[in-house]
Amino acid sequence: MYVQNASAPDRKPVTVPALRAMKAEGRRIVMLTAYDASFAHQLETAGVDVALVGDSLGMVVQGHASTLPVTLDQMVYHTAAVSRGLQATLLVADLPFMSDRDTAHALEAGARLVGEGNAAMVKIEGGAPHVLEAINALSVRAIPVCAHLGLTPQSVHKFGGFRIQGREEAAAARVLDEARAVEAAGAELLVLEGMPVALAERITAAVSIPTIGIGAGPRCDGQVLVLHDLLGVTPGKRPKFSKDFLQGRDSVSAAISAFVDEVRSGVFPAPEHCFN
Ligand code: KIV
Repeated sequence: MYVQNASAPDRKPVTVPALRAMKAEGRRIVMLTAYDASFAHQLETAGVDVALVGDSLGMVVQGHASTLPVTLDQMVYHTAAVSRGLQATLLVADLPFMSDRDTAHALEAGARLVGEGNAAMVKIEGGAPHVLEAINALSVRAIPVCAHLGLTPQSVHKFGGFRIQGREEAAAARVLDEARAVEAAGAELLVLEGMPVALAERITAAVSIPTIGIGAGPRCDGQVLVLHDLLGVTPGKRPKFSKDFLQGRDSVSAAISAFVDEVRSGVFPAPEHCFN
């Protein structure tokens, strides 16, 4: 049975300013998704810096083909559950599809994820003008924002599938401009998904906020994976950028600890997990 606040090793709480300090000091940030309290506790004990309640729960928990059916109520429910498994780990929650359709909805969603879900930060996809406006509105109201660029899964239909973004120079320049724009709008963290290593490296050098890569190569300030990919339990073909850390290990906690060690030491991601 899961016991709330079961003992976890003492460590200093990870805060939003601490993430910037980690970038400045060259300490890699470890982020991992979680969707319930028991797995959140596993992240906590392994020393993961940031837990992300991703709308990937639509795919790995609910079995949908995309993240689009996930509702704000479901995000709030899972975020609150994850928060009960955490102590020092920073909690970030996704704004689900269309909850950012205008600034008023984005503020409402952010307020619920922080107020009811206990998140410390919310994540929003893309760099369109209405997203920049929402980032600014949230951050001036003291809701820290994690931006998300590149292969943003909520744009799956626009992209024609889960396709690597920013391969051509014009597209790369667009993503780089968006990165500068989300930082200027007030974002404090930036997830870079599904893009060439060289583009993620350029963005990481161009912005002062930390970048967290997933399928974006080793030159980001940190890495994130979907928990179910890391444990090798996602049905179907494993994405190229992920790694089954449970293979060859005998427990969930050993697998998560190996991910933490490999991100911190720069072993993961290896060339076979990257795109050019
Ligand atoms: O929803 C999610 O899990 C995410 C990660 C893939 C970054 O956005």
